[in-house]
Amino acid sequence: MAETTATALPRGFRGAELGWPQLDRIPHPPHRLPVVGDVFGTDRRRPLQDSMRYGRMLGPVFRRKFFSREIVFVWGGRLAADLADESRFAKHVGLGVANLRPVAGDGLFTAYNDEPNWQLAHDVLAPGFSREAMAGYHPMMLDVAEQLLNRWDAEQAAGRAVDVPGDMTKLTLETIARTGFGHDFGSFERSRPHPFVTAMIGTLTYAQRRNVVPGPLSSLLLRDAARRNEADMAYLNRTVDELVRARRGSDGSGSGDLLDRMLETAHPETGERLAPENIRRQVITFLVAGHETTSGALSFALHYLSRHPDIAARARDEVDQVWGDTARPGYEQVARLRYVRRVLDESLRLWPTAPAYAREARHDTVLDGVHPMRRGAWALVLTPLLHRDPEVWGADAERFDPDRFEAGAVRARPGHTFKPFGTGARACIGRQFALHEATLVLALLLRRYELRPDPGYRLRVAERLTVIPEGLRLHLDPRSALARTPAAVDETPPPSGTRCPVTGRGD
Ligand code: HEM
Repeated sequence: MAETTATALPRGFRGAELGWPQLDRIPHPPHRLPVVGDVFGTDRRRPLQDSMRYGRMLGPVFRRKFFSREIVFVWGGRLAADLADESRFAKHVGLGVANLRPVAGDGLFTAYNDEPNWQLAHDVLAPGFSREAMAGYHPMMLDVAEQLLNRWDAEQAAGRAVDVPGDMTKLTLETIARTGFGHDFGSFERSRPHPFVTAMIGTLTYAQRRNVVPGPLSSLLLRDAARRNEADMAYLNRTVDELVRARRGSDGSGSGDLLDRMLETAHPETGERLAPENIRRQVITFLVAGHETTSGALSFALHYLSRHPDIAARARDEVDQVWGDTARPGYEQVARLRYVRRVLDESLRLWPTAPAYAREARHDTVLDGVHPMRRGAWALVLTPLLHRDPEVWGADAERFDPDRFEAGAVRARPGHTFKPFGTGARACIGRQFALHEATLVLALLLRRYELRPDPGYRLRVAERLTVIPEGLRLHLDPRSALARTPAAVDETPPPSGTRCPVTGRGD
């Protein structure tokens, strides 16, 4: 195929029929109808799980059509690994991500690849995620985690079950707000979610609904939802503007936190700074991206731990061994919790909480040597199915087993098949932040409580672009008085934790 020249690609939805010359070789659901396509029988509230169902039926690459919009989905390990080739593919800003542009604009997450503010913000903000920066956030992360422990102690004493996703959201919102922006939302003093969280969930849900309700009908069908969305966006903007105004007006700084970087730091080479409107976009991006997904990851991990007391006991033993009776574990002591990390990785394998990412061809190419794609053609990678591909993860891929992340097992697997944080240059900037925070919190909780599930609870996954276990409540018991022999501590370096998300190699 001839290569095309690199002019900017048109924005807006690009249907698969334009970019995939041999689209008819890709299967689609049976009973497709003219005009409406594959819309009948779809679950509009759970589009991800719907696509997972079709993926299992149709194979590692398939397509679905909603009215005039046709989308190619990919989940096979080989295909996803091919899409990770940065020389041929890049992030595609489409569907849900593009639907967030009205609120997040050219902020890091939603910026088009060719927008200059992406590189500028990336270079200015990346040092905010260095090892030193992370070590600086650690004491604040601990302070917030202690607020959670106080709350859970009170619930336990009162014999009440805890609302896991609700409390994890309080924890992760406070953590990113305080470490990144020196702001206290006071979440733990409230009985209901902070209005910022309600407005955020509103905009995420609206962005997801716009994926499944087609263009011409959306202005009619989503009229009321669009009005609510306007109000939600206005609330997010007001909150962020107040936060920035308070910092600008204060004498002190945030001692080099993310907001300081946004306001004060010039690009090391060009001397450019972020413009005020872009700062607003970035603050919203970080407040939202920085807590919603980590909250879900912690919630799923706690669900699995409560269902697997043997795994919880092994993780607890490791915490005892590594932390002893240190009241406030240090930064390095979290990094040494290899097994707790594996529990987290395994939860993110089964339920990666940002469950899809899109990749577009940089120039005409052939996917996996089989499917021709024109420049700009794109596919959506369904991460939860990629993470369950039996060719990569074995016939028991649905089983929760943290030992899949034992160093030897990781080495034996093909590269680019574990992608909870996306891939390439646009992979998650907050990955280490999320992993450190979540490992710390899981360890603190395991050390303090036995987790008892509600016997009637069956995992239900709610979707709002991100995924979260719906209605998950756990009972807390004090740690069992039975003395256990602590397991030997695994001193091998963490395999996936130190792997570069771009190359898959150790970093
Ligand atoms: C378990 C927690 C998290 C998960 C599963 C997650 C997942 C992801 C994924 C899949 C992407 C790539 C999306 C795409 O390709 O379209 C991404 C990007 C991003 N994430 Fe995260 N994330 C997490 C936590 C965080 C945290 C804690 C922060 C900030 C403190 C953050 C900030 C961002 C930003 C700014 C981007 C855009 C990066 C860019 O394009 O340059 N995330 N994340």
